[in-house]
Parts: sequence; C-alpha cells; structure tokens
Amino acid sequence: MVKLSPSVLTADFLTLCDFIEKFEKSGVDMLHLDVMDGVFVPNISFGVPVIKSIKAHTSIPLDVHLMIDKPHRYIKEFAEVADWLGFHYEAGSDVAETLKEIRALGTKACLTIKPNTSAEEIFEFLPLCDMVLVMSVEPGFGGQKFMPESLDKVRKIKAEAMRQGIDLEIQIDGGINAETAPLAVEAGVSVLVAGSYIFSAENVEETVKEIKAL
Ligand code: DX5
Ligand code: ZN
Repeated sequence: MVKLSPSVLTADFLTLCDFIEKFEKSGVDMLHLDVMDGVFVPNISFGVPVIKSIKAHTSIPLDVHLMIDKPHRYIKEFAEVADWLGFHYEAGSDVAETLKEIRALGTKACLTIKPNTSAEEIFEFLPLCDMVLVMSVEPGFGGQKFMPESLDKVRKIKAEAMRQGIDLEIQIDGGINAETAPLAVEAGVSVLVAGSYIFSAENVEETVKEIKAL
C-alpha cells in the first residue's frame, strides 16, 4: 500500500488540529512540513517553533522538507523535531556530510531533487539515504501542475536503488491528485505528498483512503 504524507502548506493553520485528528483516524503515514526561507525558494513558510507545536499534538511521523539555503547550518535544530529530514541537493551544502549528520542524529535522511536535476546526479548518495524526494513541480508553492517528466526520474532512481541493493523510500511532491497519484505509484513511488488536493477535499478521510488504496 502506498504511503501518504499530506503537506500542510496550504492549510489554514488555525484548523490544523481538526485535520490532524482526521489524518490519525484515516491512517496517514507521515505529515509533510515545508520549510521555506525566501532565499532558496521565493516564499517563506515556517520553522522549528511551528513544527514543535505540531509534534506535541500528534504521533504521526513528521516529514520535514527543507527548502532553505545551506541547510547544514540548521540540521541539528530540525533533526530534534523531525522523524524524516530532507534537504535539497541543489542548496549548497556538502551532500554526503549532511546526509551522514542527519542519520547520526537518529533521524531518517532524505535527499531532494528539483525538476532540473537528473536522477544520475544523486546515484552516488543513495547508500546514505533513507528516502529520495523527486519534486514534480518547482519548489516554493502549493497548487501547481504536475510535471510528468518526474516519473522517469522515479523509475531510474528505483532501478538504481535495486541495483545497489538499497532499501529506499521514493517520495514525490507537487501536483499529486486523483489523476497523477496512480501514475506516480506505477512508476515506483512509495510515498505520495499531497497538499492542496487533500486540504481542499470535501471528505478528507475518504480522500485519504482512496489515495492509500492505489
Ligand atoms: C512545494 C511543496 C509541496 C506543496 C505541494 O514546494 O514542497 O509540498 O505543498 O502542494 P500541492 O500538492 O498542492 O502541489
Ligand atoms: Zn514539500
């Protein structure tokens, strides 16, 4: 069964508790938290204090997606509140060292690639990853259109992980909905991130169940 990690980016934060309760009931696997610094991406979201508050209210594992410049500067702080911690290959940190640091802190490490980064560029880092996140939109905003080119990257990363004998989660993020989710699962995605599709659903619990049944 595919895992689901709803992104709270487009949520009304004052109603987040209600959503979290629904997510717990419907068996959501992770909660995706998008951290943006206004430098690596042209948008600003939230940081450690907000994640800490969410953590205090739920036992759903927190999947933190850092979209910040030189993320190695903040790994320690975020590793304390994250169960899965991901940063961008393109963000100007030493990739291997940063992945190792996340794991050494007892947190699952995720390497994330933007649409213009090829799958092959990160093959050498796969043994240091617990998850790879393939962006299917340019990072920065929710509600964008899915880029189908990302599916080929998912296939390549999956094949390479199998070749290297690595047990890896492959996550996709951006434009996931009822039409695109099945394509992602078919390509080999094991964790779907979905933001606006989940938070605008009429029946959140049903929508979660439908996606997870794919
Ligand atoms: C975009 C974020 C996404 C975003 C996804 O940079 O990384 O997690 O919230 O939103 P949707 O699912 O609406 O594309
Ligand atoms: Zn994200």
